[in-house]
Amino acid sequence: MNTILFQPLKIKNRIIPNRFVAQGMEGNDGEAGGIPSERTLNRYRELARGNWGALVVEAISVTDTSIARVNGLILNKKNLEGFKRLIDVYKKENKEGLILFQLTHSGEQSGSFSDRTCLCKPKDGYRYLSTDEIERIKDNFVAAGLLAEEAGADGIDFKLCHGYLGAELLRPCNIRSDKWGGSFENRTRLMREGTGELKALLKSKDFIIGSRLSFFEGIRGGCGAAGPDEILEDIGEMLDVVRLMNTLGMDYVNVSAGIPALTGAITRPTEPSKYLALHHLRYTRTVKDLVQKEKLNLKVIGSAYSSHREGSLAVMEEMLTKEYTDLCGFGRQIFADPLTPKKIQNGEKVNWCLLCSGCTRLMIAQHNDGCIVYNDYYKEEIKHLK
Ligand SMILES: Cc1cc2nc3c(=O)[nH]c(=O)nc-3n(C[C@H](O)[C@H](O)[C@H](O)COP(=O)(O)O)c2cc1C
Ligand code: SF4
Repeated sequence: MNTILFQPLKIKNRIIPNRFVAQGMEGNDGEAGGIPSERTLNRYRELARGNWGALVVEAISVTDTSIARVNGLILNKKNLEGFKRLIDVYKKENKEGLILFQLTHSGEQSGSFSDRTCLCKPKDGYRYLSTDEIERIKDNFVAAGLLAEEAGADGIDFKLCHGYLGAELLRPCNIRSDKWGGSFENRTRLMREGTGELKALLKSKDFIIGSRLSFFEGIRGGCGAAGPDEILEDIGEMLDVVRLMNTLGMDYVNVSAGIPALTGAITRPTEPSKYLALHHLRYTRTVKDLVQKEKLNLKVIGSAYSSHREGSLAVMEEMLTKEYTDLCGFGRQIFADPLTPKKIQNGEKVNWCLLCSGCTRLMIAQHNDGCIVYNDYYKEEIKHLK
């Protein structure tokens, strides 16, 4: 066992006990209204037993109107007790690891069963968001951040990735003429003002705030494109977002890429496209270089480690030893084997993700989703897919 994987890391005034991060992974198994169900709690209990250094609770919506999953989680006052329970369940099993809530508004990624919104230009079947509505969404993010603190979470992940509303705003092709579009200042307003307002209202100075970004979305004018009408990559502006995060006093950047619904192979490479995971390593190293050169006070989390399957530990070791990252994030692997870090520590056999996309298929079909290879419940669930 390589000890660098299990070296603690200081973030703000907190210690992350090892370098394994459980990334946000939607299970689509909340109760009606978005409260964590018994199934949700059981998933997080099991993950807590896995000794992940930090865990990001899956995308939690800050609104109950625009949501991507029929059974997705929603953080509002009404549901607060349910989220307190989730934290209790987790912390009872894992007192050291950090647990963060990923806050999101699904925007264009909202399901056809909910209020699908757009913000760049009017689009058939989508409702164009007004200036005031985006202001209210920002208020919702701030309110949800405060509820996350009240629930007992160690921090939040401001979701600005994967084509959700936060990413839609950031894009160079967001040419809105109001205060939410056009200039870099306007396109980053949600993150800037949202973070500032939240920080001013938080009770604890130790509460962690970070953000997950798609460094290259792979669409014309998307995040990481060279301009509003460019398809080619130039992540220079995304690095400016990282600099801004530092100025805002945020604590970490979670480096991701792609839009699952449009350019999914970039976000979560499958067996035939597994080499796309190398782009994640490149973006992560570029961000970490920036952090080191400019002495930014941000920790860096990399993504898509499941894509390396049983080779992921060697990749992790190399990325950490060469200081190309601080932390390594696993998505599908947390479904395949929630106990992964603990098993590695104990020298036990790990069930490695096979990149079969079964969990993704379940999620897209709006079923409860999880690993169809190693978990009997989801093995059954996939049989009901047409
Ligand atoms: C079923 C499923 C659900 C996901 N849910 C989320 C989510 O809630 N939040 C998020 O940021 N990413 C989500 N992702 C993306 C993963 O966190 C991760 O970035 C991606 O799977 C690539 O990492 P991996 O190779 O380690 O799986 C999801 C991916 C899958 C397959
Ligand atoms: S269903 Fe397939 S892709 Fe998803 S976690 Fe299991 S093995 Fe990995």
